[in-house]
Amino acid sequence: MSDHTAVESNRSHWDENASTYNSKFEKTILQIIAEVQARLDWIGVDWIEDSSGNETSESSSKGPTKEVRLLDYACGTGLVSRALAPHVTQCVGIDLSEGMVDEYNKTVENQGIPHSEMFAQVGNLLDESDPSPAALSGPEFYNFDIAVVGLGFHHFDKPSFAAKQLAARLKPGGVLLIIDFLPHGDHKHNHDHPAAHTVTHLGFSEEAVKTMFEEAGVGGRFEYDVVGKGIVFHGVKEEGNTMSRSVFMARGFKL
Ligand SMILES: C[S@@+](CC[C@H](N)C(=O)[O-])C[C@H]1O[C@@H](n2cnc3c(N)ncnc32)[C@H](O)[C@@H]1O
Repeated sequence: MSDHTAVESNRSHWDENASTYNSKFEKTILQIIAEVQARLDWIGVDWIEDSSGNETSESSSKGPTKEVRLLDYACGTGLVSRALAPHVTQCVGIDLSEGMVDEYNKTVENQGIPHSEMFAQVGNLLDESDPSPAALSGPEFYNFDIAVVGLGFHHFDKPSFAAKQLAARLKPGGVLLIIDFLPHGDHKHNHDHPAAHTVTHLGFSEEAVKTMFEEAGVGGRFEYDVVGKGIVFHGVKEEGNTMSRSVFMARGFKL
């Protein structure tokens, strides 16, 4: 699949499915959020204390004393931002699909969260012919403490280029975190699977992800953790059954 085809397939598929994504995948989204939140220490960022309501020394009325900034790349409706928002000072989402970005920003607005603390922007950092797009060149799109891609890497044509592009947006010592599928069978010919034509990779082994991180300069203290129970995709059927996938989280520090 060429760059152009993957990008266009993804854009149109996710635009069409943006408004139903949260309701269709509600249980799956909550399951992944819980798995991310269970790994805060393992991810290894120097988080701010939970600012979602529990008063702590750092989340007192004075607000957090340090900045912790999250890049949620291929953010969709904002799963990763939802999981990590209580522990960072700013969430910046980027996604190819305007529909997904609209859903992300609608939720932020409905929750009364200031734009300066959480927003998403339409964009693509993965076009090798335009690797530094003007829309993503402002200082708000650089120097992140952590960049995360939740279930996006298997939609990218060149995951290794994606890792390099995201690494470039991190501070030295920043963390790249990828959440994606372990290697699995081919579902491209399964007509019940609506997103099949947007998928470019059938999962990633630990070895493949480690090489990708090392080549991108984010191989420091690399770890690949398999989510024990696997993740059930309640809204998707595969061979007549509800789709279930083994999921990993991989993280490394920018050297
Ligand atoms: C399965 S959804 C995951 C969304 C969200 N991260 C989550 O975990 O719910 C995949 C997302 O990747 C986005 N995407 C695909 N290719 C992209 C690219 N080259 N740049 C930015 N986003 C991309 C799609 O638009 C879609 O929103």
